[in-house]
Amino acid sequence: MGQSQKVTIRANEIIFREGELGDCAYLVESGRVLVFLNKSDREVPLKILGEGEVFGEMALIDSSPRSASCRATTDCRLVVVTKDQLLDRVHSADPIVRLLMKVLMERLRSQNDKIRGVETALPTIDPLTKIKKEALDRINLENRLANALDDDEFVPFYQPIYNLKTQQIIGCESLIRWVTKDQGIVSPAVFMDVMEDTSLILKAGQLMLEKSFKDLPAMSSQFQSDEEFQLSINISGRQFASQQFISSLEQTRQAMKINPSQVNLELTERIMAEGSWTLKVLQDCRDKGYYLAIDDFGTGFSSLQYLAQMPLTDLKIDRSFVSKMQESPKSLSIVQSLVHLSKLLGMSVTAEGIETRQQLKILTDLGVTYGQGFLFSKPIPLADFLKMNSRVAA
Ligand code: C2E
Ligand code: CMP
Ligand code: CA
Ligand code: CA
Repeated sequence: MGQSQKVTIRANEIIFREGELGDCAYLVESGRVLVFLNKSDREVPLKILGEGEVFGEMALIDSSPRSASCRATTDCRLVVVTKDQLLDRVHSADPIVRLLMKVLMERLRSQNDKIRGVETALPTIDPLTKIKKEALDRINLENRLANALDDDEFVPFYQPIYNLKTQQIIGCESLIRWVTKDQGIVSPAVFMDVMEDTSLILKAGQLMLEKSFKDLPAMSSQFQSDEEFQLSINISGRQFASQQFISSLEQTRQAMKINPSQVNLELTERIMAEGSWTLKVLQDCRDKGYYLAIDDFGTGFSSLQYLAQMPLTDLKIDRSFVSKMQESPKSLSIVQSLVHLSKLLGMSVTAEGIETRQQLKILTDLGVTYGQGFLFSKPIPLADFLKMNSRVAA
């Protein structure tokens, strides 16, 4: 964000007047600021702001003139919040929160107009339309997802994971699919973000554990190889952070009589930034015998220091690197370094998104042990998965 700019305002100085255009907001670091309106030749005080309070944000958020005037009532020190700093945050907020913000600002503006004795003009174009639509879509999707969970419309699809040397299926990744009545099979790209932003992910995550564990014995007896068949299952940050995570994982596993060494929990690197409790939970999972993979490695904010501290067992190379390996020397070097790094840390490596024989060859030559991708198979339902050849066709 860069160094924040600060300004000093003397007592009684006007900071800005209503009706002016605004290009920044302010945070009061010290001193007091009066927000007021001009009615005829009189000043109507609205609020006194003190340390830690923000003002001048409205004009930036709704691109309208300043809704009130502000004056320092004592000497003030203000931190300037630029338009970009503020709008970056507003735009990344949940659409419903953005809608609520706009509604509250509309109310405040019309309240101020009433105090001034001015009738609020009806806007010719409803400025809320786009944002209302987004919020409405979002609420609709949330409701449909909640109903779909109640109606049991989510199932795991399975994508085989191969040992690239022996070319045998040694496990699979469980990937959620929404089987709708009217729109066919919906991919998680459409709904995962909404689920992760709400508590729906907790219910969906638990359901995926139950269904995948239930399917595991059939897969495991179908695909016998030199290695124990492993089920890889994605665990979202919110699910991992919930207090009951380990206890419900253990309960589900024990109820289905699954061996923890057959379960590989896939976590994204985002959880590594969460603090020391992460390490504790990971260690607890490892002590109980689960395997732990780091998913999408290299696409987020991974710190090598964290990586070295965590008791992880497998590093998944993201599809974005695999798909660009041939045309981009940078991506190739990243893949190479990830293979070296995982060896140094005593972790196995799994490459995602293998689509071509050339990619497979490069990865095998680099010493990648495990892989998955459309070259072998897309994620498929259990019945189809059980019919697969246990070896890659020559
Ligand atoms: P991910 O964990 O990185 O999963 C790999 C994604 O890459 C899957 O997408 C898979 O279908 C896709 N993929 C695999 N091989 C290829 C390939 O060769 N080419 C291409 N183009 N794609 C390939 P999917 O199933 O749509 O899942 C997307 C993401 O949604 C997953 O990314 C994961 O982050 C999340 N997700 C899926 N199922 C679950 C779940 O049960 N729980 C949680 N928390 N997240 C899930
Ligand atoms: P802005 O419209 O950019 O400039 C004036 C600021 O005063 C406004 O942002 C809010 O931060 C603040 N403000 C406006 N109306 C009120 C009110 N009724 N009560 C408190 N603060 C207000
Ligand atoms: Ca994954
Ligand atoms: Ca990935």
